This record gives sequence, structure tokens and C-alpha cells, in this order.
Amino acid sequence: MRIYACADYRTMSRQAANIISAQVIFKPDCILGLATGSTPIGTYAQLVEWYKKGDLSFAEVRSVNLDEYLGLAPDHIQSYRYFMQKNLFDHVDIKPENTNVPNGLAEDPEAECRRYDRIIEGFGGVDLQLLGMGHNGHIGFNEPSNAFPTDTHVVELTHSTIEANKRFFASEADVPHKALTMGVRSILQAKAVLMVVSGADKAEVVHKAFCGPVTPEVPASILQLHRNVILVGDMEALHLLPKEVLHLCD
Ligand code: GLP
Repeated sequence: MRIYACADYRTMSRQAANIISAQVIFKPDCILGLATGSTPIGTYAQLVEWYKKGDLSFAEVRSVNLDEYLGLAPDHIQSYRYFMQKNLFDHVDIKPENTNVPNGLAEDPEAECRRYDRIIEGFGGVDLQLLGMGHNGHIGFNEPSNAFPTDTHVVELTHSTIEANKRFFASEADVPHKALTMGVRSILQAKAVLMVVSGADKAEVVHKAFCGPVTPEVPASILQLHRNVILVGDMEALHLLPKEVLHLCD
């Protein structure tokens, strides 16, 4: 595992974007696993800037997103499909038909989960999976529980996740209580995992995930078992990790 400790959010975003762009340049027809949340917004903005400068093309890239709220239409302003369109897809040359986000309006959510797993299998797995992390250690929407959920599944969001995500909605009552999320197996099968973390409020969970026991109570801790994880964070989020494991980057 390699950990890049960056001075601030901007540097963190540039470093994460550098790693994604290295993947895309190295393998133009790669499969990118993409994430939402506030942390990767700067990373996407940097990728868009490099695309606009002509340094990067997503023309052959195919993507799979981690998750989607159940019950939200793709054009709902808080849906993860909408987030991806506004932060990345609408601004680069990725082909719309090559982007995948679970369908939050699926009539049969279980069938949608199976369909989604078949898409990932059909791709032969993800080359580079971008991840953020929730305050309770969730990855995608794999919430703390007594077992690691393997496949794409419907999840009941925890109170702490609803609480954390209500800032994006008009009120807490508007936050959906369920979501569709890629399971831990697909995440672990990615050839490389890039996690981005930012802010002092993440420091404790980052320490638990990477220095504590591997446990489904902290879903991100499973990444300790992955052979190719890159963690990119700002100093505020990483300051509880042992200094000797950090590669400083500015
Ligand atoms: C949501 C998403 C996660 C994301 C998490 C953290 O719950 N489902 O994929 O990692 O939020 O978000 P943020 O980066 O805003 O802290």
C-alpha cells in the first residue's frame, strides 16, 4: 500500500487525478470504477481541466459507478447519475453508453443488482477503482455490519450516513433510506484501488480502517487485504497514521 500525504485538498485532488490519468494514458480502454461524495469533486475537476487542455481522452474508457440512491431518477439533482454527469461525464469525451450507474428507479431492485454484477463481470473487472470513505468506514454504500456484503445489493442506509448526507438535500426527510451498491467483492477484485480522504473529521476512521483490525464493522478495513491500494489524503485526514508510512506530496 502506498500513502500520499498532501498539504491540502487541492494537492490531494491533483495527485489523485494524476493517478487516474496515468491509468487512462497507460490503458486508454480501461475500466474505471467511479465514486461520488464531496471528496472526489476536486479530482474530477482536475481531470476535466486536463481533458480540456487536450492532455487526456476518455473516448475509449468504460466506467462503473459504485452506487445510487434507490428511488431517485437519473435526472434528480441529488442522484449519483446526476452528480457524475455534472462533475465529469458532461465535460469530457466519455461515450454516454460506456458509463454505468445503478438504476435507482429499477422496478425490481434485486434484478437490477444482478444486471449490474453482470456488467462488471462482462468487463472482466475494474482496472482502477476510485473510493471515498464515509465517517463510519463505509465504502460505496457498504455500511458497517457483521459480514462483508459480497455482490451488488440493496442496502438500508444507517442513521449516521443519512445524517452525513442530509447536507445535500433540502431536509433530512428527503434523504432516501435505501441505496443500491456494488459489493465488497467487486471492489476487492479491482486491479488497483485509489482511495481519497480529506479533512480532520475523517482522521479517526482512516486510522481505524488502515491500522485497526480487518472487520466488517469498518468496511474500508478490508482494503488492508488488497495488494494494490493507493491512499491519497490531505494531512488533516492522515495525521493519525504513523509518519514513516507517509509519502509527502506537494
Ligand atoms: C457517500 C457515498 C460514498 C462516499 C461517502 C463519503 O455515502 N456513497 O461513496 O465515499 O459518501 O462522502 P464524502 O466524500 O462527501 O465524505
